[in-house]
Amino acid sequence: MKFNKICVLGLGYIGLPTASTFATHGVKVLGVDVNPHIVETLQRGDIHIHEPGLRDTVSAALASGNFNVSTTPAQADAFLIAVPTPFHQDQSGEYNGLKYKLADMRAVTSAAEAIVPFLRKGNLVVLESTSPPRTTLELVAPILARSGLQAGSDFHLAYSPERVLPGQILRELIENARVIGGVTPASAQAGADLYSIFVKGEIVQTDATTAEMVKLMENTYRDVNIAIANEFARLADKFGVDVWEAIGIANRHPRVKILNPGPGVGGHCISVDPWFFVETAPELTPLIFNARKVNDAQPQFVVELVKRTLGELKGKKIAALGLAYKPDVDDLRESPATEVVHLLQKEGAKVKAWEPFKPDAAMPGIEMARNLDDALKDADAIVLLVRHTDFASLNPLKVREMTPAHIAVDTVNTWDPTEWAKAGFSVSRLGVGK
Ligand SMILES: NC(=O)c1ccc[n+]([C@@H]2O[C@H](COP(=O)([O-])OP(=O)(O)OC[C@H]3O[C@@H](n4cnc5c(N)ncnc54)[C@H](O)[C@@H]3O)[C@@H](O)[C@H]2O)c1
Repeated sequence: MKFNKICVLGLGYIGLPTASTFATHGVKVLGVDVNPHIVETLQRGDIHIHEPGLRDTVSAALASGNFNVSTTPAQADAFLIAVPTPFHQDQSGEYNGLKYKLADMRAVTSAAEAIVPFLRKGNLVVLESTSPPRTTLELVAPILARSGLQAGSDFHLAYSPERVLPGQILRELIENARVIGGVTPASAQAGADLYSIFVKGEIVQTDATTAEMVKLMENTYRDVNIAIANEFARLADKFGVDVWEAIGIANRHPRVKILNPGPGVGGHCISVDPWFFVETAPELTPLIFNARKVNDAQPQFVVELVKRTLGELKGKKIAALGLAYKPDVDDLRESPATEVVHLLQKEGAKVKAWEPFKPDAAMPGIEMARNLDDALKDADAIVLLVRHTDFASLNPLKVREMTPAHIAVDTVNTWDPTEWAKAGFSVSRLGVGK
C-alpha cells in the first residue's frame, strides 16, 4: 500500500518523533494535538519536550514542507493514534476485596472519534498507545464503525506498540524491531508497508490482540522479575546475607538471570502496564497483581532500612540523592525515589533532594537542593536512591569534606562500603543483612 499523506494524533514523546521522522522520509504529515499550546509551539518552529535529536528532526521536517500541525485531523491515507493512556485518577476496580488501578482510555476514545469524519475506504488506522488487551477490536473498531465503514473489510486497522527508550527515541524508532498486529492479515501488511518507510529493524506481523499483549507482557515480565529481586533483598536482609553477592552467584547458573533489587519500580511503563492485565482479568493475574504490590511497597522497605540505620527520624536531616525513576534520565514520573522522600518526611525527617538531571525541578512537597553541596552541607545522613553515573563516581574523601554526615544508605548497590568506611562513613546497603 502507498502512503502520500498521514495524520498523527498526539504529538508527545511518541507522536512527535514518529510524525517528524515520517515527514523527513518524504511523507506529507499532519500532526494533530488537542493542546493548542503544543500546536502553537511547533508552528513557531520550537519543541515542547526534551529528547536528544528531536529538535533537529522537527526542524528538518518543517523545513521540508512535509510537516504541518493542527488541532484537528484532516483526510489522509493513514491515521496514527499516539495519545496518553494513564491511570484513572478517580476510579479503581475491585476484585475479592483487592483494589486495582484502571486505564483511562478517554484520549484514545476521543482520538478515534476525531478520525471518524475523515475516514475513507482503503485508509489505514494504527493505534500505538499502550492499551489493555482487545482495545483495538472492542474500543477503537466500534468507534470507527460510526463512519459507516467496517474495520478489516472497508479500511485497515492495526495495533503497533512503541518500545523506544527515552533518550534514544529517534534512533530506536528506526532500528528497533516493530510489531504490527492487524485485525486482518491485510491490515497487518498495510501497517508493515507504512512503517517500512523508515523502520530498519525487523517488522513482525501478527494479529492486533497479540500485539497488544506483547507490549504488556514485555513490561510485566520485567516488573515481576524486579519484584522477586526485591523479595530476595528482604529475605537476605532477614537472613544476614548480602543479596547482591547472592544474586551474582545465582546468576552464574546458566539458566538464571535475576534482576537487581532497588527502591521500587517507576516510570510510566513498567509500573503502569501490568495493571492493564489486572484490570481486564483480575481472576487470572494474582502473580502480576502481587508483583505490583511488592514493588509499590519497596519505598517503605527503604524507609525501614533508613530508620534502622539512623534511629528515630523526627528532626533528622537527610540528603536524598536522585529523584529520577532510573539512572541517567531526567524523568521523575512515577518515581519510587520521590515516594521514599515523601515517606521519610512522613516520619518527621527533613529531606533535601538533589537531582542532577533536573536541577530546576519543582516537586510539590519536596525541598530541592540547588546542587550536591547544598544537599550535603548539614545532613545527618545520605540516602542514595538512583544509580546516576554522577553519584557512582563520587569520591568518598571529597564527600567527607562536604558533609557532617557519617551515615550513608545505598539502595542501589553503588558505593563500595570499604572505600566509604575509609573516608569515615558507615554504609548500609539495601538487601544486605550481613
Ligand atoms: N514515552 C514513552 O517512552 C513511551 C514508550 C512506549 C509507549 N508509550 C505509550 O505511547 C502513548 C503516548 O505516550 P507519550 O509518552 O507520547 O504521551 P505524551 O503525554 O508525551 O503525549 C501525548 C500527546 O497526546 C495529546 N493528546 C491527548 N488527547 C488527544 C487527542 N484526543 N487527540 C490528539 N492529541 C491528543 C496530548 O496533548 C499530548 O501532547 C502512551 O500510551 C504511552 O504509554 C510511551
